Amino acid sequence: SGMAAIFYAVAAITSAGQNLVTGDKLYGGTYTQFSHTLRRFGIDARFVDSGDPANFERAIDENTRLLYTESVGNPKGNVDDIEGIAEVAHRHRIPFVVDNTVTPPPLFNPFEHGVDIAVYSLTKMIGGHGTSIGGAVVDKGCFDWKAAGRYAELTEPDPSYHGVNFWETFGSREGMVPGSAYLAKIRLGLLRDLGAALSPFNSWLFLQGLETLPLRARAHAANALSVARFLDAHPAVDSVDYAGLTGHPDHARAQRYFPLGPGAVLGFEIKGGLEAGKRFIESVKLASHVANILDAKTLVIHPASTTHQQLTPVEQLKAGVTPGLIRISVGIEHIDDILSDLEQALRAARAAV
Ligand SMILES: Cc1ncc(COP(=O)(O)O)c(C=O)c1O
Repeated sequence: SGMAAIFYAVAAITSAGQNLVTGDKLYGGTYTQFSHTLRRFGIDARFVDSGDPANFERAIDENTRLLYTESVGNPKGNVDDIEGIAEVAHRHRIPFVVDNTVTPPPLFNPFEHGVDIAVYSLTKMIGGHGTSIGGAVVDKGCFDWKAAGRYAELTEPDPSYHGVNFWETFGSREGMVPGSAYLAKIRLGLLRDLGAALSPFNSWLFLQGLETLPLRARAHAANALSVARFLDAHPAVDSVDYAGLTGHPDHARAQRYFPLGPGAVLGFEIKGGLEAGKRFIESVKLASHVANILDAKTLVIHPASTTHQQLTPVEQLKAGVTPGLIRISVGIEHIDDILSDLEQALRAARAAV
């Protein structure tokens, strides 16, 4: 799963007593993994407002092992200064890990913008049809673990694997695939010990998804912009969070990083709050009420009572989740069908309050 990929990406290089610095507008599951599960194992996740790279820098100390954020925040649609955060990371010789689940290539190639390691939930746009749960860790292969001087688990003999030195064995020789040291550590250590292995059938389904990813990604992004504009102009809607809209505070950055569009997950605040939100979700006919995102089908959900329900109200607000927020993952159906479904559900929601 994506959650396992995130855990492995962190745990491969972080031990008790150490920390990571992360943006605070994260997918709810990641927020909980960092703030509860990692803490139980003595790893401190330091949450900072990811809007400014300086906030990451302030939280770094000699025990910081990685910086972390998401390419586009879920569900707030924020687009961080990825290149600025990468610059901070590299100045401190720390790798920068980004969850690129919501903008997989061709929407965004994080490695062109300073990111060292990308993590993915394959369950989303890469699989594309909600048929399988999977995750991936991808290493650009350029981070010099040896020069960084603090990643002994990669650069010193590993007692859990016949004393192998991952850096010497996989990382620094001519002809090795870049990134092999860190990924070998994940495969030969964490995957072996913890067992989040993808079944062959699920792997095959993901490969099927990959074949159509470039086409679907473009269709998702084009439909998402139309839906965002439609909602933005709708009298039953208070506000829309989609960085593809000119009014979004991160619009200029989104245009630079995501020329095809910043993915297809957007949040909107319906007039009438919780009650109207509930009625909207019950009223959609084409869209499905599902917790997944980036399926080929349009999906809607109420984050405060589902994906982010484990967060306290204060944590929810920090993560951008207000009581009346609805998240929509725009699918690749014909745009007229999507808009007419949203129109009738918004009308029903308005009638309910
Ligand atoms: C941005 C992001 N990362 C990670 C995950 C977790 O992925 P999975 O459901 O495959 O564990 C999700 C799931 O919604 C997500 O939206």
